[in-house]
Amino acid sequence: MKKEIVLSGMRPTGELHLGNYFGALKRWAGIQSDHECYWMVADLHSLTTLESTADIEKKTIEMTALWLAAGLDPKKSSVFLQSAIPEHGELASIFATLLPVSMLELNPTYKEMTEAHPRSGSFGLLNYPVLQAADILLYKATRVPVGRDQEPHIEITREIARRFNNRFGEFFAEPHALFEKIPKIYSLKDPTKKMSKSHSPDSYIGLLDDADTVREKIMGAVTDSGNEIVYDPESKPALAHLIELLHLASGQAVEAIEKEYKSAGYANFKKAVAESISGLLSPIQERFRSYKPADVKGVLAEGTAKARTVAQKNLGDIKEKIGLLNLK
Ligand code: TRP
Repeated sequence: MKKEIVLSGMRPTGELHLGNYFGALKRWAGIQSDHECYWMVADLHSLTTLESTADIEKKTIEMTALWLAAGLDPKKSSVFLQSAIPEHGELASIFATLLPVSMLELNPTYKEMTEAHPRSGSFGLLNYPVLQAADILLYKATRVPVGRDQEPHIEITREIARRFNNRFGEFFAEPHALFEKIPKIYSLKDPTKKMSKSHSPDSYIGLLDDADTVREKIMGAVTDSGNEIVYDPESKPALAHLIELLHLASGQAVEAIEKEYKSAGYANFKKAVAESISGLLSPIQERFRSYKPADVKGVLAEGTAKARTVAQKNLGDIKEKIGLLNLK
């Protein structure tokens, strides 16, 4: 049976954190073997939101190295660089003819991003979901593992697929987001907000944080009143989140954690959480440090060549479907 096509990406905007690991990388790594996977460094998208592009090259290499260190396997997947495949822009300009501007103005992430990022008002930011639709449909991906915050973009992608099919004839299958079983990782300072590098550094655990830093951040994480370690997300959300982190990092069941730490006290419990997280991160960091920038570039070049072959073939088919003159 043909494998299902999966594509996802991240903007190389800086250090990755535990939320990116549990919410994306670990899951991406887990589905590589039985899907045809494309993992894209969305560097063109980052131009719409980055304050400065001064270190974009460094960030691209660093993020890719972290992906590989976290288990993305270039032998199984195509790990590629968006800006090195011009077909993304070409398809985006075709897709841009299918939607009224008003639909993009209503995109809820557009409003948020205009408030959060200094490149507000740029056409690129308005066009962000159109480029994202091109990323996905260029490979005819049908599964897109992303966080819930990306739902509006997937909805626009589906709308574009439908409109293309209506106008030019059936071609694209509508892609679906893959949301199941994504653990939610929250800020260590506020269990109602998701972990994010746009909040203060002590609110998230970076994948490159050393053991001392992890301990400090976990010890400083907010908890709830009381002194028993019990899992009660309703009335003790901050503590519940730390228990979940320990569960995710160690694989230990929540009930087993409750049993073991019930009367251990917060300090001992937090120490165990910190140790477990560092135990998870240290082999990732070791692998990360073993990659030279030139190796990472080589992996990206290879993955990009592989992806581009597919992109060129599919864009050719798309142009043919539209009925554009083929000069070959
Ligand atoms: N917008 C996504 C994010 O910020 C990144 C992205 C760009 C993406 N193109 C994509 C994700 C295509 C999935 C599929 O997380």
